[in-house]
Amino acid sequence: MKTFSDIVNYRRAIRKYDPEFNFDPQVIAEALELATLAPNSSNMQMWEFHRVRSPEMLEKMKAACLGQNAAKTANELVAFVTTPQKWKARADMNAKVIRNAFASKPNTPEHVFAYYEKDMPFLYNGEGMVEYKGLSGEEGERQRKEDVRVILNKSAALAAMTFMYALSEAGYDSCPMEGFDEDHLKDLLGLPKEADICMVVSCGKRLPEGVYGPRLRVDLTDVVIEH
Ligand SMILES: Cc1cc2nc3c(=O)[nH]c(=O)nc-3n(C[C@H](O)[C@H](O)[C@H](O)COP(=O)(O)O)c2cc1C
Repeated sequence: MKTFSDIVNYRRAIRKYDPEFNFDPQVIAEALELATLAPNSSNMQMWEFHRVRSPEMLEKMKAACLGQNAAKTANELVAFVTTPQKWKARADMNAKVIRNAFASKPNTPEHVFAYYEKDMPFLYNGEGMVEYKGLSGEEGERQRKEDVRVILNKSAALAAMTFMYALSEAGYDSCPMEGFDEDHLKDLLGLPKEADICMVVSCGKRLPEGVYGPRLRVDLTDVVIEH
């Protein structure tokens, strides 16, 4: 039985996968399902996982990953993508759950419902922005959009991390990548211009030479600061 420590320690960024390995695509399907359980901002789940498997698409995608080693020999590539265009469907879904949960309590104050019915439309679509103190005008609009990008990329990164640990548990390997031609890749995957590709994760089974050297980390005292 693997412990979480085993899973974390086993995962490395892999740059060469085994072409002889009897790769089971079901492992990727299951890891993607687990990735949907990652924590995400306001449970808006504004992400998509674009799983690239077909030989033709894989070839094009590997080229869009600039031919880098981490992609070249992968069995599959998964792009973790943000979906700012899906805000309304997600806010409505959450709002409905809350309305249902309070359906038997007619005196529930409106602020209970405001989070998904007012705050989310403000954040994701700028609705009601003019009246919002301190955030009106072009500067506020720009700031809001920047905030949204950061928020969505955080959640997508956590999904990618959950996916990679799930692969690690199954004895499979991965490498997260940000080295790709994003515009080209967005065209290839049919993504809208407002989407971000947070990361592309390559998947397969490691060859020993796919691990570039021993794990290197700075001293814990430089990272963990106690207050
Ligand atoms: C956001 C992000 C982007 C990365 N981009 C690349 C990349 O484009 N190509 C690559 O070979 N590795 C990439 N890596 C992998 C890192 O180089 C690797 O995780 C780091 O060197 C630590 O090694 P380890 O993961 O084996 O512990 C990326 C990692 C992260 C988290």
